[in-house]
Amino acid sequence: MESSAKRKVLLGVTGGIAAYKSCLLLRRLVEAGCDTRVVMTRHATHFVGPLSFSTLSGHPVAADPFESYQVDGAEHVDLSVWADQFVVAPATANILAKSATGIADDFLSTLICAYDRPILFAPAMNHRMWSNAAIRRACGQLQEDGHVLVEPGAGWLACGETGAGRMAEPEFIHEHLDWLWHRTSLLQGRRVLISAGPTVEAVDEVRVLSNRSSGRMGFALARAAQRMGAEVRLVAGPVELPTPLGVCRRDVRSAAQMAQAMLEEAATADVVIMCAAVADYAPEAISGKRKKDGSPWQLSLLPTVDILRELGALPGRETRIIAGFALEMERELEQAREKLQRKGLDFICLNNPRTEGADFGSTQNQITLLDRDGTVQEWPLMDKLLVAERILRHAALRLGNMA
Ligand SMILES: Cc1cc2nc3c(=O)[nH]c(=O)nc-3n(C[C@H](O)[C@H](O)[C@H](O)COP(=O)(O)O)c2cc1C
Repeated sequence: MESSAKRKVLLGVTGGIAAYKSCLLLRRLVEAGCDTRVVMTRHATHFVGPLSFSTLSGHPVAADPFESYQVDGAEHVDLSVWADQFVVAPATANILAKSATGIADDFLSTLICAYDRPILFAPAMNHRMWSNAAIRRACGQLQEDGHVLVEPGAGWLACGETGAGRMAEPEFIHEHLDWLWHRTSLLQGRRVLISAGPTVEAVDEVRVLSNRSSGRMGFALARAAQRMGAEVRLVAGPVELPTPLGVCRRDVRSAAQMAQAMLEEAATADVVIMCAAVADYAPEAISGKRKKDGSPWQLSLLPTVDILRELGALPGRETRIIAGFALEMERELEQAREKLQRKGLDFICLNNPRTEGADFGSTQNQITLLDRDGTVQEWPLMDKLLVAERILRHAALRLGNMA
């Protein structure tokens, strides 16, 4: 991770069990050379004592009530002017709702209201609170206002239940900050086309054949490309994922529809990444619904359009980056290399759903990138957003070399 030296970070801590994880985040920030100050809500002080934070940061902690609004001589909203990064972790349902509506009824919410740059919120709460309609609206509003939400993960929650609402790990929040701080305009003015998700092939008018792709990797690529300044088009198979902010999305179902949409959109694209798990074979669909009559039903599957090959044949190939994904379970490198060459790609991202932590639907992925120049980069298991950023950096580099 790049150095975050001398960055002034204001850490807001609110009243949730995950407050203890903020101590670890604070330690990472301090170790990375950041100048940090901590503000706690009154409720937060019930979970972790201010002494922990003041010891780790080396500065007194600002906590309610109002009388303590002095930290190293800075008063009231001064801290929000001082900070060049504001992080709220954990962010309770309460602080998210207040921040989204401009309520400033204690020290932390007043500072949030006075801060005029993007704030990074790391929500943490019970899964029912996380899916509450008002909290969904608040999160949407905060993102619309330009703030950044580090999505909570799913798993065991302190309340004893299981679901989404666990605060992202401090390490990941730090990585996210690092990315924000070193965000680039590497793809500024470029058009990036991404495909994502599975395709669904009709067997009859009721039944379908599909696969287990969640679409997360493709959506992460779209989100990352948008943050790198690109104009992004996303062609998505049926998935339950929100469209990343600022991304233009086109929904499709079948491999044939995916091919049509990709070929239409690719004509003006500088970078095309085929991340969708497109069906290789599709049945000859029959009309109506086949009745269950006790006899075996043998499906005849026909090969679908080879989208990557068709993309490669479009005019303008020499100034366009085309990359694909290879999901392989045996002789992975060999198979991926063969696909790279057969399809004439610039690079290919090899992944294996048997890798621990990188199975279907996971928020993480482990990629080996093979370039047409023969280089191979094996990356560690990482959050898909960080994987996406690395892939796009590679695409930008290749694009730069083309110019
Ligand atoms: C034991 C306990 C754990 C809690 N954990 C959370 C939590 O993880 N997330 C959350 O949004 N609220 C949680 N709450 C509720 C908040 O503490 C409560 O909404 C409070 O008003 C938040 O205030 P603040 O946002 O000013 O810190 C918890 C409450 C208790 C008693």
